[in-house]
Amino acid sequence: MNYQLPTTNYQLPTTNYQPARTSFVTGKLLTSLIHQYLPLAVMSVSLRQKKMIMASETLEKLNWRYATKKFDKSQTLSEEKIEILKQAFNLTATSYGLQPIKMISIKDKEVQAQLVPFTMQQQQVADASHVLVLCVEKTISKHYIKEYFSRVATIRNTPAAILQPFEAFLIDSFSEKETSEIRQWMEKQAYIALGNLLTVCAYEQIDACPIEGFEPEAYDTFLELDKRNLNSVLVLAVGHRAEDDMFATMKKVRKGVDNVVIDY
Ligand SMILES: Cc1cc2nc3c(=O)[nH]c(=O)nc-3n(C[C@H](O)[C@H](O)[C@H](O)COP(=O)(O)O)c2cc1C
Repeated sequence: MNYQLPTTNYQLPTTNYQPARTSFVTGKLLTSLIHQYLPLAVMSVSLRQKKMIMASETLEKLNWRYATKKFDKSQTLSEEKIEILKQAFNLTATSYGLQPIKMISIKDKEVQAQLVPFTMQQQQVADASHVLVLCVEKTISKHYIKEYFSRVATIRNTPAAILQPFEAFLIDSFSEKETSEIRQWMEKQAYIALGNLLTVCAYEQIDACPIEGFEPEAYDTFLELDKRNLNSVLVLAVGHRAEDDMFATMKKVRKGVDNVVIDY
């Protein structure tokens, strides 16, 4: 099967830029107006055209992506692609920039096979090139927040006095939160990372299956996540779709855009 994106003809309908002839505009004035405004008009059309092409390419790529049910186990993602996913994970936006998330990248096929029983028998984790396990910190301590601010100070060369009020605010605010509230907040950050990774996968033509159907406690024990002060939240299997994955050619099931977007 050829997974090349279908080529599309993005040619916009040609427009006639000839200004209407009017009785009161002299030939000279008309020429001067054409000289002044035609380049602008042409420029704005070509910008619009470029924007439309980019939007179409984005949607094509997002349509190409689907939750892969069957991976080709003979294929492995290149180191370069995996590096892109690692960098993209690290570049994910997080609330306050605190990054309470970590990603375990697994490519050991024996380990992957042993994850299947903890993943509701979903074979994707065994057959994928890599299994990415998105985790959250066990807790956010005062020390953790201080570390973040010292990173800001080092990387941006910001004086401590400028950072101090916000640092004090965050330490105070987190000390007042229930453990369950912090945990929920951290999990939201993991979901943001998952969304980000899925979009990057679409862009990079990496096949992926997001997986919520797994036993987090079993993963934690098996991967000894306790030692790293982490808890697993989500799994993302990445690799190459199998040629006979029937889900690859199925139509997307979505509500109409008018149903999910309200122009207010
Ligand atoms: C958070 C999350 C968890 C998911 N968990 C699973 C899963 O455990 N197994 C699976 O096969 N697909 C899983 N999916 C895939 C969805 O079923 C799929 O994205 C949805 O049906 C839309 O189909 P599409 O992604 O192919 O367009 C999950 C998707 C998300 C976003």
